[in-house]
Amino acid sequence: MPRLRSRRNFLLSAFGLGAVEQLHAQVVAGSEVDGLLSLFDFEAAAHTRISHGAWERIQGGAADEITLRWNREAYDHIRLKPRVLVDVSKLDTRVKLFGQELPFPILLAPTGAQRFVHPDGELGVARGAAAANATLVISSSASMRVEEIARAATGPVWFQLYVQRDRGFTRDLVQRAEGAGCRALCVTVDSPTFGARNRENRAKGELPERELPNLKGKDYLDPTLTWKDIDWLRGFARTPVLLKGILNPEDATIAVRSGVAGIIVSNHGARNLDTVPATIDALPLVADKVAGRIPVLVDGGIRRGTDVIKAIARGASAVQIGRPYLWGLGVAGAKGVTRVVEVLRKEFELAMALTGRPTIASIDKSVLW
Ligand SMILES: Cc1cc2nc3c(=O)[nH]c(=O)nc-3n(C[C@H](O)[C@H](O)[C@H](O)COP(=O)(O)O)c2cc1C
Repeated sequence: MPRLRSRRNFLLSAFGLGAVEQLHAQVVAGSEVDGLLSLFDFEAAAHTRISHGAWERIQGGAADEITLRWNREAYDHIRLKPRVLVDVSKLDTRVKLFGQELPFPILLAPTGAQRFVHPDGELGVARGAAAANATLVISSSASMRVEEIARAATGPVWFQLYVQRDRGFTRDLVQRAEGAGCRALCVTVDSPTFGARNRENRAKGELPERELPNLKGKDYLDPTLTWKDIDWLRGFARTPVLLKGILNPEDATIAVRSGVAGIIVSNHGARNLDTVPATIDALPLVADKVAGRIPVLVDGGIRRGTDVIKAIARGASAVQIGRPYLWGLGVAGAKGVTRVVEVLRKEFELAMALTGRPTIASIDKSVLW
């Protein structure tokens, strides 16, 4: 009997068919990850692995998904303007943000639903982000307590906060997150309610109920939230407070005046209000109002290293990615998350070299055609 056959039979008898299949899946996942060369490769691979319900949940946008499409298309329409004969033998991708030095300006945006994508869920993302040296923003709608996720993340973590109806619970949550080592708070301000998530809702019945230990009750979003509540939060937060979900330049002006530490230009991955502009199109207007007084970050549709350079050229200090690392998680758990970040980071370095911009400071509007 050939050796392979006998090994297979041994595994079959020792562990049953399930174990053999699992072993096979792991081997395939390991080699497959190395063969995935772009974030879009991960998207295609993830589609074959993630359950239909979870796929619809992570891929879907609001209503007709027009903004979802624009978030991508807008990047495709921005053209680059390279300089030649610049010494790019040494690239410096470091950025300083809120007293923290990041080796490169790409963070992992907060996303819920990670356990639907892979059984390791939040722990896989935390480990994968740490292995890639990337800062992870832990979501309020995580399926595990923030303390548990922060413990698994040996790298830097921030916390995304929904200011909930129960302000006492919210205050405790902030203190728990800070106590667990989260170094900044991203308060999501674009969600007095969630949008018409038709695609996700059509497939909702396919997913089990989730436990959301960092949220109180089902009806946790607070539509009464105003700038006064941001003042309240800043009154006791010990870490920098950022507002996530600013699109309107007028709101950016108020944000700076209110004393927050930073802004994240975001349309919630096109999941809330359809037909708002692509974030990369709102970014320069926001950056113009902020005029360098506080850092501006951006998320939404970033899939290529050239997108990162475009975002920085239009005024971002750093970018965040959402769906792409969930694809990585779905394909190969923590390893997939790490690889997604590494691919994007490498592409960003290639874009810097090929445009003749060896430092972050050298990336400005002049890199755009
Ligand atoms: C499945 C999923 C869950 C999300 N959950 C949250 C969340 O809990 N809190 C939040 O502020 N944003 C959440 N977002 C929005 C992301 O933080 C981010 O703004 C967006 O995904 C960026 O766009 P991209 O996915 O095109 O990269 C979620 C996005 C997705 C796709």
